Amino acid sequence: MKTRINKAQKQFEKEINSIEDIKLLEELRIEYLGREGIMTKIFDGIPHLSAEQKKIIGKEANKLKNEINQLFQDKQEQLLSEKKSNVQEKFYKSLPGIKPEIGHLHIITQAIREITEIFKPLGFNKVRYPEVDWEYFAFDSLNMPKDHPARDEWETFFVKAPAGKRGKMIITPHTSSGQVREMLKGALPIRMLNISRCGRREMDIGHIPTFYQFEGLLIDKNITIANLKGTLEYFAKNFFGESRKIRLRPYDFRFTEPSFEIDINCGLCLGAGCKFCRGGWVELGGAGMVHPNVLKAGKVDPKKYSGFAFGWGVERTYMMKSGTKLSDIRDLFKNDFRFLTQF
Ligand code: FA5
Repeated sequence: MKTRINKAQKQFEKEINSIEDIKLLEELRIEYLGREGIMTKIFDGIPHLSAEQKKIIGKEANKLKNEINQLFQDKQEQLLSEKKSNVQEKFYKSLPGIKPEIGHLHIITQAIREITEIFKPLGFNKVRYPEVDWEYFAFDSLNMPKDHPARDEWETFFVKAPAGKRGKMIITPHTSSGQVREMLKGALPIRMLNISRCGRREMDIGHIPTFYQFEGLLIDKNITIANLKGTLEYFAKNFFGESRKIRLRPYDFRFTEPSFEIDINCGLCLGAGCKFCRGGWVELGGAGMVHPNVLKAGKVDPKKYSGFAFGWGVERTYMMKSGTKLSDIRDLFKNDFRFLTQF
Protein backbone atom coordinates (compact mmCIF):
# COMPACT_ATOMS: atom_id res chain seq x y z
CA MET A 1 0.00 0.00 0.00
CA LYS A 2 2.80 2.37 0.88
CA THR A 3 4.39 1.72 -2.53
CA ARG A 4 1.08 2.52 -4.22
CA ILE A 5 0.98 5.85 -2.42
CA ASN A 6 4.56 6.71 -3.35
CA LYS A 7 3.95 5.73 -6.95
CA ALA A 8 0.79 7.84 -7.11
CA GLN A 9 2.64 10.80 -5.68
CA LYS A 10 5.51 10.63 -8.17
CA GLN A 11 3.21 10.11 -11.12
CA PHE A 12 0.95 12.99 -10.07
CA GLU A 13 3.83 15.44 -9.67
CA LYS A 14 5.13 14.55 -13.12
CA GLU A 15 1.74 14.92 -14.76
CA ILE A 16 0.71 18.19 -13.14
CA ASN A 17 3.97 19.85 -14.13
CA SER A 18 3.39 19.11 -17.79
CA ILE A 19 -0.17 20.54 -17.88
CA GLU A 20 -0.72 23.87 -19.69
CA ASP A 21 -4.47 23.85 -20.11
CA ILE A 22 -7.22 24.36 -17.57
CA LYS A 23 -9.42 21.70 -19.18
CA LEU A 24 -6.68 19.06 -18.93
CA LEU A 25 -6.09 20.10 -15.33
CA GLU A 26 -9.71 19.32 -14.53
CA GLU A 27 -9.37 15.92 -16.23
CA LEU A 28 -6.32 15.20 -14.05
CA ARG A 29 -8.23 16.23 -10.94
CA ILE A 30 -10.97 13.74 -11.78
CA GLU A 31 -8.37 11.03 -12.49
CA TYR A 32 -6.98 11.41 -8.97
CA LEU A 33 -9.77 12.73 -6.80
CA GLY A 34 -12.92 11.72 -8.71
CA ARG A 35 -15.33 9.00 -7.52
CA GLU A 36 -13.40 6.34 -9.44
CA GLY A 37 -10.06 8.13 -8.96
CA ILE A 38 -6.67 6.79 -7.86
CA MET A 39 -6.87 8.38 -4.39
CA THR A 40 -10.42 7.14 -3.84
CA LYS A 41 -9.27 3.60 -4.58
CA ILE A 42 -6.40 3.95 -2.09
CA PHE A 43 -8.85 5.12 0.59
CA ASP A 44 -11.21 2.23 -0.27
CA GLY A 45 -8.39 -0.22 0.55
CA ILE A 46 -7.66 1.15 4.05
CA PRO A 47 -10.50 -0.63 5.94
CA HIS A 48 -8.97 -4.01 4.92
CA LEU A 49 -5.64 -3.26 6.64
CA SER A 50 -4.56 -4.18 10.19
CA ALA A 51 -5.26 -1.62 12.93
CA GLU A 52 -1.54 -0.64 13.00
CA GLN A 53 -1.31 -0.27 9.22
CA LYS A 54 -4.61 1.68 9.07
CA LYS A 55 -3.05 4.37 11.26
CA ILE A 56 0.18 4.70 9.23
CA ILE A 57 -1.33 4.35 5.74
CA GLY A 58 -4.34 6.52 6.63
CA LYS A 59 -2.02 9.32 7.67
CA GLU A 60 0.13 8.99 4.50
CA ALA A 61 -2.92 8.88 2.22
CA ASN A 62 -4.45 12.00 3.83
CA LYS A 63 -1.13 13.81 3.55
CA LEU A 64 -0.95 13.02 -0.16
CA LYS A 65 -4.57 14.03 -0.72
CA ASN A 66 -3.96 17.45 0.88
CA GLU A 67 -0.80 17.87 -1.15
CA ILE A 68 -2.61 17.04 -4.37
CA ASN A 69 -5.39 19.52 -3.51
CA GLN A 70 -2.87 22.27 -2.83
CA LEU A 71 -0.97 21.60 -6.07
CA PHE A 72 -4.25 21.74 -7.99
CA GLN A 73 -5.15 25.10 -6.52
CA ASP A 74 -1.71 26.54 -7.25
CA LYS A 75 -1.77 25.28 -10.82
CA GLN A 76 -5.28 26.52 -11.39
CA GLU A 77 -4.40 30.03 -10.22
CA GLN A 78 -1.28 30.01 -12.38
CA LEU A 79 -3.17 28.97 -15.53
CA LEU A 80 -5.99 31.51 -14.94
CA SER A 81 -3.62 34.42 -14.47
CA GLU A 82 -1.71 33.42 -17.62
CA LYS A 83 -5.00 33.36 -19.56
CA LYS A 84 -5.94 36.84 -18.29
CA SER A 85 -2.66 38.38 -19.30
CA ASN A 86 -2.98 36.78 -22.76
CA VAL A 87 -6.37 38.48 -23.22
CA GLN A 88 -4.92 41.79 -22.09
CA GLU A 89 -2.16 41.48 -24.67
CA LYS A 90 -4.78 41.06 -27.41
CA PHE A 91 -6.76 44.13 -26.35
CA TYR A 92 -6.40 46.87 -28.96
CA LYS A 93 -6.93 50.21 -27.33
CA SER A 94 -7.76 51.98 -30.62
CA LEU A 95 -10.66 49.60 -31.52
CA PRO A 96 -14.12 51.20 -31.09
CA GLY A 97 -16.04 49.69 -28.15
CA ILE A 98 -18.98 47.33 -28.59
CA LYS A 99 -22.10 49.37 -27.98
CA PRO A 100 -24.79 47.59 -25.97
CA GLU A 101 -28.16 47.51 -27.76
CA ILE A 102 -30.48 50.19 -26.44
CA GLY A 103 -34.22 49.53 -26.40
CA HIS A 104 -36.94 52.12 -26.87
CA LEU A 105 -40.51 52.73 -25.81
CA HIS A 106 -43.20 50.89 -27.74
CA ILE A 107 -44.49 53.04 -30.59
CA ILE A 108 -47.94 53.23 -29.04
CA THR A 109 -46.43 54.60 -25.81
CA GLN A 110 -44.51 57.11 -27.92
CA ALA A 111 -47.76 58.10 -29.67
CA ILE A 112 -49.59 58.47 -26.33
CA ARG A 113 -46.84 60.79 -25.09
CA GLU A 114 -46.91 62.85 -28.27
CA ILE A 115 -50.71 63.21 -28.16
CA THR A 116 -50.53 64.28 -24.50
CA GLU A 117 -47.92 66.92 -25.28
CA ILE A 118 -49.99 68.35 -28.15
CA PHE A 119 -53.05 68.85 -25.93
CA LYS A 120 -51.09 70.24 -22.98
CA PRO A 121 -50.85 73.87 -24.22
CA LEU A 122 -54.65 73.91 -24.57
CA GLY A 123 -54.94 73.06 -20.88
CA PHE A 124 -56.10 69.45 -21.26
CA ASN A 125 -55.27 67.41 -18.17
CA LYS A 126 -54.28 63.80 -18.70
CA VAL A 127 -56.28 61.27 -16.69
CA ARG A 128 -56.90 57.54 -16.81
CA TYR A 129 -60.11 55.91 -15.69
CA PRO A 130 -60.83 52.23 -14.87
CA GLU A 131 -60.42 49.81 -17.74
CA VAL A 132 -62.84 47.44 -16.05
CA ASP A 133 -65.90 49.46 -15.15
CA TRP A 134 -69.64 49.34 -14.57
CA GLU A 135 -72.01 49.36 -17.54
CA TYR A 136 -73.47 52.54 -16.06
CA PHE A 137 -70.42 54.64 -16.96
CA ALA A 138 -69.97 53.14 -20.44
CA PHE A 139 -73.65 53.23 -21.44
CA ASP A 140 -76.46 54.30 -19.04
CA SER A 141 -74.86 57.57 -17.99
CA LEU A 142 -74.14 58.29 -21.67
CA ASN A 143 -77.81 58.44 -22.59
CA MET A 144 -78.03 54.75 -23.54
CA PRO A 145 -80.61 53.17 -21.26
CA LYS A 146 -80.65 49.41 -20.65
CA ASP A 147 -81.54 47.35 -23.73
CA HIS A 148 -80.97 50.31 -26.02
CA PRO A 149 -79.89 48.93 -29.45
CA ALA A 150 -77.04 51.48 -29.70
CA ARG A 151 -75.14 49.45 -27.09
CA ASP A 152 -74.70 46.69 -29.68
CA GLU A 153 -72.32 48.92 -31.63
CA TRP A 154 -69.76 48.43 -28.86
CA GLU A 155 -68.81 44.75 -29.10
CA THR A 156 -68.54 44.54 -25.34
CA PHE A 157 -66.62 42.03 -23.19
CA PHE A 158 -68.49 41.24 -19.98
CA VAL A 159 -66.59 40.31 -16.85
CA LYS A 160 -67.67 37.32 -14.77
CA ALA A 161 -68.51 39.26 -11.61
CA PRO A 162 -71.70 39.92 -9.67
CA ALA A 163 -73.75 42.80 -11.07
CA GLY A 164 -74.19 45.84 -8.82
CA LYS A 165 -76.55 48.77 -8.78
CA ARG A 166 -74.58 50.24 -11.67
CA GLY A 167 -75.13 47.13 -13.80
CA LYS A 168 -72.66 44.47 -14.94
CA MET A 169 -68.88 44.82 -14.98
CA ILE A 170 -67.36 45.21 -18.42
CA ILE A 171 -64.05 45.91 -20.06
CA THR A 172 -64.58 49.52 -21.11
CA PRO A 173 -65.28 49.52 -24.86
CA HIS A 174 -64.51 53.25 -25.13
CA THR A 175 -62.92 56.04 -23.13
CA SER A 176 -66.24 57.91 -23.11
CA SER A 177 -66.88 55.95 -19.89
CA GLY A 178 -64.61 58.55 -18.24
CA GLN A 179 -66.87 61.50 -19.17
CA VAL A 180 -69.38 61.27 -16.31
CA ARG A 181 -66.67 60.12 -13.88
CA GLU A 182 -64.78 63.33 -14.66
CA MET A 183 -67.89 65.51 -14.27
CA LEU A 184 -68.73 63.89 -10.93
CA LYS A 185 -65.43 65.18 -9.55
CA GLY A 186 -67.36 68.46 -9.41
CA ALA A 187 -64.63 70.78 -10.64
CA LEU A 188 -65.69 73.05 -13.48
CA PRO A 189 -64.61 74.04 -16.11
CA ILE A 190 -63.32 70.70 -17.42
CA ARG A 191 -60.50 70.05 -19.85
CA MET A 192 -59.93 66.31 -19.69
CA LEU A 193 -57.74 64.07 -21.80
CA ASN A 194 -58.47 60.45 -20.93
CA ILE A 195 -56.11 57.99 -22.56
CA SER A 196 -56.92 54.40 -21.63
CA ARG A 197 -57.09 50.87 -22.91
CA CYS A 198 -60.38 49.66 -24.35
CA GLY A 199 -61.65 46.22 -25.31
CA ARG A 200 -64.03 45.02 -28.02
CA ARG A 201 -64.83 41.64 -29.49
CA GLU A 202 -63.42 42.28 -32.96
CA MET A 203 -60.27 41.67 -34.97
CA ASP A 204 -59.31 42.39 -38.56
CA ILE A 205 -56.92 44.62 -40.52
CA GLY A 206 -58.28 47.76 -38.80
CA HIS A 207 -59.55 46.37 -35.45
CA ILE A 208 -57.94 44.69 -32.47
CA PRO A 209 -59.55 43.38 -29.26
CA THR A 210 -57.37 45.60 -27.05
CA PHE A 211 -56.63 49.08 -28.24
CA TYR A 212 -56.19 52.60 -26.87
CA GLN A 213 -58.42 55.61 -27.25
CA PHE A 214 -57.83 59.23 -26.34
CA GLU A 215 -60.87 61.13 -25.25
CA GLY A 216 -61.10 64.88 -24.96
CA LEU A 217 -63.84 66.48 -22.89
CA LEU A 218 -64.19 70.21 -22.57
CA ILE A 219 -67.00 71.75 -20.53
CA ASP A 220 -67.29 75.45 -19.93
CA LYS A 221 -69.61 78.37 -20.61
CA ASN A 222 -70.45 79.24 -24.25
CA ILE A 223 -68.70 76.31 -25.91
CA THR A 224 -69.72 75.75 -29.53
CA ILE A 225 -69.02 73.45 -32.49
CA ALA A 226 -66.50 76.04 -33.68
CA ASN A 227 -64.40 75.29 -30.57
CA LEU A 228 -64.65 71.55 -31.28
CA LYS A 229 -63.67 71.91 -34.92
CA GLY A 230 -60.80 74.26 -34.05
CA THR A 231 -59.45 71.85 -31.42
CA LEU A 232 -59.56 68.86 -33.78
CA GLU A 233 -57.90 70.81 -36.58
CA TYR A 234 -55.21 72.03 -34.18
CA PHE A 235 -54.47 68.45 -33.17
CA ALA A 236 -54.47 67.14 -36.74
CA LYS A 237 -52.06 69.87 -37.91
CA ASN A 238 -49.67 69.19 -35.05
CA PHE A 239 -49.76 65.41 -35.28
CA PHE A 240 -50.02 64.82 -39.02
CA GLY A 241 -48.56 68.02 -40.47
CA GLU A 242 -50.06 70.81 -42.57
CA SER A 243 -50.55 68.84 -45.77
CA ARG A 244 -53.12 66.33 -44.48
CA LYS A 245 -56.90 66.80 -44.54
CA ILE A 246 -59.54 65.82 -42.01
CA ARG A 247 -63.28 65.84 -42.54
CA LEU A 248 -66.28 65.68 -40.20
CA ARG A 249 -69.19 63.42 -41.21
CA PRO A 250 -72.57 63.65 -39.44
CA TYR A 251 -73.17 60.64 -37.19
CA ASP A 252 -75.51 59.63 -34.41
CA PHE A 253 -73.76 58.90 -31.11
CA ARG A 254 -76.31 58.91 -28.31
CA PHE A 255 -74.10 60.94 -25.98
CA THR A 256 -73.41 63.86 -28.28
CA GLU A 257 -75.78 66.06 -30.27
CA PRO A 258 -74.91 66.88 -32.98
CA SER A 259 -72.40 64.05 -33.54
CA PHE A 260 -69.70 63.48 -36.10
CA GLU A 261 -67.22 60.93 -37.23
CA ILE A 262 -63.81 62.25 -38.15
CA ASP A 263 -61.84 60.92 -41.10
CA ILE A 264 -58.38 61.70 -42.39
CA ASN A 265 -57.12 61.26 -45.93
CA CYS A 266 -55.29 57.93 -45.84
CA GLY A 267 -51.59 58.16 -44.95
CA LEU A 268 -50.77 54.97 -46.88
CA CYS A 269 -52.17 55.94 -50.30
CA LEU A 270 -52.66 59.69 -49.67
CA GLY A 271 -56.29 59.42 -50.67
CA ALA A 272 -55.97 57.32 -53.81
CA GLY A 273 -57.64 54.27 -52.21
CA CYS A 274 -55.93 51.14 -50.88
CA LYS A 275 -56.80 47.88 -49.09
CA PHE A 276 -56.61 49.60 -45.69
CA CYS A 277 -58.83 52.63 -46.38
CA ARG A 278 -60.92 51.36 -49.31
CA GLY A 279 -61.78 54.79 -50.69
CA GLY A 280 -59.13 57.27 -49.60
CA TRP A 281 -60.38 58.16 -46.09
CA VAL A 282 -59.77 56.49 -42.72
CA GLU A 283 -62.08 56.92 -39.73
CA LEU A 284 -60.11 58.02 -36.67
CA GLY A 285 -62.87 58.60 -34.15
CA GLY A 286 -66.08 60.27 -33.13
CA ALA A 287 -66.93 63.66 -31.66
CA GLY A 288 -69.79 65.99 -30.89
CA MET A 289 -71.41 68.41 -28.48
CA VAL A 290 -72.07 66.76 -25.11
CA HIS A 291 -75.75 65.74 -24.81
CA PRO A 292 -77.67 67.59 -22.04
CA ASN A 293 -78.66 64.22 -20.49
CA VAL A 294 -74.96 63.35 -20.09
CA LEU A 295 -74.30 66.71 -18.41
CA LYS A 296 -77.21 65.99 -16.05
CA ALA A 297 -75.81 62.54 -15.21
CA GLY A 298 -72.56 64.31 -14.29
CA LYS A 299 -74.44 66.85 -12.14
CA VAL A 300 -73.58 69.71 -14.51
CA ASP A 301 -76.32 72.23 -15.29
CA PRO A 302 -76.95 72.16 -19.09
CA LYS A 303 -78.54 75.62 -18.90
CA LYS A 304 -75.28 77.11 -17.71
CA TYR A 305 -72.68 74.89 -19.30
CA SER A 306 -72.07 73.25 -22.65
CA GLY A 307 -69.19 71.21 -23.95
CA PHE A 308 -67.70 69.01 -26.59
CA ALA A 309 -66.15 65.55 -26.56
CA PHE A 310 -64.11 63.47 -28.96
CA GLY A 311 -62.76 59.94 -28.83
CA TRP A 312 -60.13 58.68 -31.27
CA GLY A 313 -58.23 55.41 -31.60
CA VAL A 314 -54.53 55.83 -30.74
CA GLU A 315 -53.35 52.98 -33.00
CA ARG A 316 -55.25 54.17 -36.06
CA THR A 317 -54.16 57.73 -35.45
CA TYR A 318 -50.53 56.61 -35.25
CA MET A 319 -50.89 54.46 -38.38
CA MET A 320 -52.11 57.46 -40.32
CA LYS A 321 -49.01 59.52 -39.51
CA SER A 322 -47.18 60.20 -42.77
CA GLY A 323 -44.47 57.70 -43.56
CA THR A 324 -45.26 54.95 -41.02
CA LYS A 325 -46.49 52.67 -43.84
CA LEU A 326 -48.34 50.44 -41.39
CA SER A 327 -51.07 48.62 -43.26
CA ASP A 328 -52.33 46.17 -40.62
CA ILE A 329 -53.22 47.29 -37.09
CA ARG A 330 -52.49 43.80 -35.71
CA ASP A 331 -48.75 44.24 -36.41
CA LEU A 332 -48.60 46.74 -33.55
CA PHE A 333 -49.21 44.05 -30.95
CA LYS A 334 -47.38 41.04 -32.34
CA ASN A 335 -44.25 41.96 -30.39
CA ASP A 336 -42.10 40.90 -33.30
CA PHE A 337 -38.63 42.34 -32.65
CA ARG A 338 -37.82 42.68 -36.34
CA PHE A 339 -40.89 44.90 -36.69
CA LEU A 340 -40.49 46.90 -33.48
CA THR A 341 -36.81 47.76 -33.93
CA GLN A 342 -37.62 49.64 -37.16
CA PHE A 343 -39.11 52.53 -35.20
C1 FA5 B 1 -66.47 55.68 -29.89
O1 FA5 B 1 -65.91 54.84 -29.26
C2 FA5 B 1 -67.01 56.93 -29.24
N1 FA5 B 1 -66.90 56.78 -27.83
C3 FA5 B 1 -66.24 58.15 -29.72
C4 FA5 B 1 -66.82 59.45 -29.25
C5 FA5 B 1 -66.28 60.06 -28.14
C6 FA5 B 1 -67.86 60.03 -29.91
C7 FA5 B 1 -66.80 61.27 -27.70
C8 FA5 B 1 -68.41 61.20 -29.49
C9 FA5 B 1 -67.84 61.84 -28.38
P1 FA5 B 1 -66.16 54.49 -32.20
O2 FA5 B 1 -66.80 53.23 -31.82
O3 FA5 B 1 -66.41 54.98 -33.58
O4 FA5 B 1 -66.61 55.68 -31.23
O5 FA5 B 1 -64.60 54.37 -31.93
C10 FA5 B 1 -63.76 55.49 -32.05
C11 FA5 B 1 -62.42 55.10 -32.65
O6 FA5 B 1 -61.78 54.14 -31.84
C12 FA5 B 1 -62.50 54.43 -34.02
O7 FA5 B 1 -62.67 55.37 -35.04
C13 FA5 B 1 -61.15 53.75 -34.09
O8 FA5 B 1 -60.13 54.68 -34.40
C14 FA5 B 1 -60.98 53.29 -32.65
N2 FA5 B 1 -61.42 51.90 -32.52
C15 FA5 B 1 -62.66 51.44 -32.26
N3 FA5 B 1 -62.67 50.10 -32.18
C16 FA5 B 1 -61.41 49.69 -32.40
C17 FA5 B 1 -60.75 48.41 -32.45
N4 FA5 B 1 -61.39 47.29 -32.21
N5 FA5 B 1 -59.43 48.38 -32.72
C18 FA5 B 1 -58.72 49.52 -32.91
N6 FA5 B 1 -59.28 50.76 -32.87
C19 FA5 B 1 -60.60 50.84 -32.62
